[in-house]
Amino acid sequence: MKFFADTAEIDEIAELNDLGMVDGVTTNPSLILKSGRDILEVTREIAGMVEGPVSAEVVALEADDMLAEGRKLAEIAPNIAVKVPLTWAGLKTCKALSAEGTMVNVTLCFSANQALLAAKAGATFISPFIGRLDDINIDGMELIADIRAIYDNYGFETQILAASIRSANHMKDAALIGADVATAPPSVIRKMADHILTDKGLEVFMKDWAKTGQKIL
Ligand code: E4P
Repeated sequence: MKFFADTAEIDEIAELNDLGMVDGVTTNPSLILKSGRDILEVTREIAGMVEGPVSAEVVALEADDMLAEGRKLAEIAPNIAVKVPLTWAGLKTCKALSAEGTMVNVTLCFSANQALLAAKAGATFISPFIGRLDDINIDGMELIADIRAIYDNYGFETQILAASIRSANHMKDAALIGADVATAPPSVIRKMADHILTDKGLEVFMKDWAKTGQKIL
């Protein structure tokens, strides 16, 4: 499973990128707001740092305007994936941009039927939002499993990009189901390294090591 960093914070991306933990980046209007940066500038900077796809989201609601915004975002760098919402206008824009050879990430997906439409429209990525479904007592992970089954039934090449990930468990479950990509806040990716028994084990090793009186360096 590929890891995308779900952030527009340059420092956080750089740290994970240096560790080889970042296969791409996703942003959205809320993350751009949080970064306090200009969308074109920060997207260019991220796309220059990271080799993989960097999603940048359109904000127009009509297809023609979305297409124009998408083309402008795609001009930033060859690794830009234009993010469009899963609306009828978004699907039209997805079809047009995909035909032009631009990667498209169809976002705000909350049902298997929506994911099926995105694949038919030629999406490179479909972004089902796990956490926001969990928030309303619908099992977000079940949606990932449904989309995996449907895409596999028909050999769709659209990559399942598990989004709205809130915990390390979400990462594990998405990987077990076979999501192609998971996009998560850097804090969640870092939490994947945590285990209470690792901490306890290390504590014991350090105490015993001190008793040996030895040094490695
Ligand atoms: C992904 O592309 C989305 O921007 C993101 O995962 C949304 O996450 P949230 O529901 O935690 O805002």
